[in-house]
Amino acid sequence: MVRLEFLKYMLSFASLAKFNPLTFDRMLESGSDFKGSDFGRDFQWGVGTSAFQVEGAWDLDGKGPSIWDTFSGKEGNIKDKTNAKAAIEFYHTYAADLKLLKRLNFENFRFSFSWARILPEGSGKINEKGLDFYDRLIDSCLELGIEPWAVLYHWDLPQALEDRGGWANRDIIGWFSEYADLCTRRFGDRVKHWMVLNEPAGFTTLGYLSGVHAPDRTGIGIFLAAVHHACMCQAEGGRIIRQNVSGSHVGTTFSCSFVEPNKLTHCHRNAADRLDVVLNRLFIEPSLGMGYPIVEVPFLRKINKYIQPGDLERLKFEFDFIGLQNYFRLISKPSMIPFIWANRMKPGDGVEITEMGWEVAPEGIYKILKQFSKYPIKEIIVTENGAAFPDVMTDGRVHDQQRIDFFKGYLEQILRAKREGVNVKGYFAWTLIDNFEWAEGNRPRFGLVYNDFETQQRTVKDSGYWFRDFLKESV
Ligand code: BGC
Repeated sequence: MVRLEFLKYMLSFASLAKFNPLTFDRMLESGSDFKGSDFGRDFQWGVGTSAFQVEGAWDLDGKGPSIWDTFSGKEGNIKDKTNAKAAIEFYHTYAADLKLLKRLNFENFRFSFSWARILPEGSGKINEKGLDFYDRLIDSCLELGIEPWAVLYHWDLPQALEDRGGWANRDIIGWFSEYADLCTRRFGDRVKHWMVLNEPAGFTTLGYLSGVHAPDRTGIGIFLAAVHHACMCQAEGGRIIRQNVSGSHVGTTFSCSFVEPNKLTHCHRNAADRLDVVLNRLFIEPSLGMGYPIVEVPFLRKINKYIQPGDLERLKFEFDFIGLQNYFRLISKPSMIPFIWANRMKPGDGVEITEMGWEVAPEGIYKILKQFSKYPIKEIIVTENGAAFPDVMTDGRVHDQQRIDFFKGYLEQILRAKREGVNVKGYFAWTLIDNFEWAEGNRPRFGLVYNDFETQQRTVKDSGYWFRDFLKESV
């Protein structure tokens, strides 16, 4: 069955980036004890979270249901049978959790607004208590000297809007604009860093094509409609932020994975190209005024059905930064899967994988950064990167050396790209505290801090302490 990785693996890139062994050897020589300060004084270090994965309080203080409340409430949808009704109770514990973040020497905190907490029906009636929560959260960040980075949409659409067609209904452009306008007017005096969408390839592919995520819909037509509407909202949201927030730093995020063909034949390269289109290029290119990349993947031409006069112009928006989110690379091969005719290969024997089954491939982040740096974008920020491993608490400690090695390896490759001229200006680890990992449930632990889901007790893992020391001289 197609799984969470579906969207992340449906990427591709035809030519392999040139590997320069000399440069890399030098990096390794100096790399064993490199520090956060090696990235430069203006480099932003942070951690990322999202509302649904951490807040809990799913029906408290006037919050409306989101598609994820509905989806996770249905038997069989969440692999380990957990739900996010309480999640990690961040709605109540945010003040202490932010102090923890500060203790680990991070200065930037990425969070998302829950649309249904603010507008329980998606549009119309405003929930003041929802707005109040985000006021408290933002004010707490600022009091602690933490810079808030807000994401408008991280996958938790109000159920009321899904009932009216969700992302497949063109009206979402109006609903989203209303919501973006409300958030930016309310919080724009204090929040300067904004991201419009989290991984549109993720929520359209998994939610509207394969149906393994909320709202569990499948169909090429609704998928393509959702893609076009998400791209329209991406640009519209960017314009609203820039208009309402003075001194704004406006971005949006993409899930990106470097795709390598498993053989360098014409046919394998073409398959890799097709994956690259759907996963890496589909959402960024319209924003750059390049239109949809439909040449390599003919089924995408059907998207024209949803494009109205003037849309191609409105899809464009010049972001201040692009949030690149990377976990693994993909090796692709031609396949019988309809439409894309390409598939991801399973990591081979002996290859290190995370608990999600994703290959640990530090050089993949270097290659995808190089790939994205060919676009005319102002700056890149790595807005998500991290790994789930089966952590064990022993005598009050979590010795997660594998995660430390993961971070070291990926950061070293980011530094390599930066030193070669890629304009990467920041890094957000995913994530601060173990949380609710969507259709996987609570089992995969991505945090720098261990969470006991019974008691909600937090314990800093060795990787958290590693970051604290790594960043010591950057603060
Ligand atoms: C999402 C996160 C998720 C992470 C790990 C990203 O695609 O934005 O919400 O937890 O990957 O799977």
